[in-house]
Amino acid sequence: MNGGRVGLAGGVLKNVFKTLPASPHASSFPLQNRYNPPFVRILLLSDIHSNLEALDACLFAAPAHDLVVNLGDTVGYGGNPNEVIAKAQALGRVFVRGNHDRAVSGLMNLDEFNAIAGLATLWTRAQLTPKNLEWLRALPQGPIKLDELPGIQFVHGSSLDEDEYMVSARDAIAPLITDPVPITFFGHTHLQGGFLLTGEISEGYRPGYRTVGQPESSDWPLRKNRRYLINPGSVGQPRDGDWRSAFAVFDSDAWIVTFYRVPYNLRVAQEKILAANLPQRLATRLATGR
Ligand SMILES: [Fe+2]
Repeated sequence: MNGGRVGLAGGVLKNVFKTLPASPHASSFPLQNRYNPPFVRILLLSDIHSNLEALDACLFAAPAHDLVVNLGDTVGYGGNPNEVIAKAQALGRVFVRGNHDRAVSGLMNLDEFNAIAGLATLWTRAQLTPKNLEWLRALPQGPIKLDELPGIQFVHGSSLDEDEYMVSARDAIAPLITDPVPITFFGHTHLQGGFLLTGEISEGYRPGYRTVGQPESSDWPLRKNRRYLINPGSVGQPRDGDWRSAFAVFDSDAWIVTFYRVPYNLRVAQEKILAANLPQRLATRLATGR
């Protein structure tokens, strides 16, 4: 993940509990539902993957925000696809479709998935209501741009290919050089962090944290004259070795991305996967963040 010329270590650390209001959503959700710009504080969620416990933990920990953007893969792998779709829909209407959203709703051939992902896709498809399947099928392909947020776009894989995995600085170089949009928020890799273009060099960035089990946040102040690719991490199935659920908030005034990691009720999420007779690996991998 930390590829490229220089692996930059973390940002400013602070404990989430010290900075969060007791009831963080009371003021933010009405703003969101009215879709009322300016969108200064953007809550970025990606790769929720039907993990309701993780999503709930993120929403509880998230600071007040003006807009929620979902970067795709709302379903697949986890035990609560209908419940997670309902909650995601209630948060707002800015979505990018992910490859699992396409696969579950029949827009993508399952040949491209491994056996475990294929089984989870078929199970998820069987659970979903016809209305939710239709909603998934209608999700838009990225890049998504909003008039109120010039210089920013939202994708699942990359702006060049919605299925591209931008894991290393080498993967990121083509989108960074060819796409002039200063900030691209992406998902798909389940790896929290990002890449920036300095001259013609792509550098990886990964937020730094002090603990492995506490709620934490990490700031990444951005510079105006650079290009960035930024991944908030996966809400429902992190793969960067940190089991905690991941999300991010972007402050478009301060030009700062704050990454978050929050513990969630892992055991319940695992039990739901096992109770559904989904592959055991989908439950065990949540504990290691791999
Ligand atoms: Fe995903």
